[in-house]
Amino acid sequence: AVERTLSIIKPDAVAKNVIGEIYSRFEKAGLKVVGSRMVHLSQEKAEGFYAEHKERPFFKDLVAFMTSGPVVVSVLEGENAVAHHRDLMGATNPADAAAGTIRADFAQTIDENAVHGSDSPTSAAREVSYFFEEADVCPRTR
Ligand code: CMP
Repeated sequence: AVERTLSIIKPDAVAKNVIGEIYSRFEKAGLKVVGSRMVHLSQEKAEGFYAEHKERPFFKDLVAFMTSGPVVVSVLEGENAVAHHRDLMGATNPADAAAGTIRADFAQTIDENAVHGSDSPTSAAREVSYFFEEADVCPRTR
């Protein structure tokens, strides 16, 4: 089925100036960018986004990193978009990420791992609406 998923290009990848290279991978794979915005997250916005990780030992560092510089939040649309996007990203820990994936090519550590992607259609719905009004998502008609 055609799905939407949320993508975040994290502060490390923005700082490396590889926004376009990452977008190219989405586009070459057939995923369409239907929503896009650059934002410097507040602590409150980052904490709310990652609320499910609140009790994890890495939570504080995660929020500090995600607020350390601007990110690019995007809505990607395509067949099986949630899983397809996760395949393109590779494993959470770049050390485990398959060759040719975004994390293998652009990330060094699990904390600064270049990109985030929704992990299920249910979380995709929550994450897309956390950043985008429906009117700010632009489905492709051609
Ligand atoms: P992300 O997909 O954005 O979701 C939560 C983030 O926490 C994850 O990517 C990693 O960057 C970071 N993180 C740090 N340590 C861990 C860990 N042990 N397990 C999962 N995520 C971690």
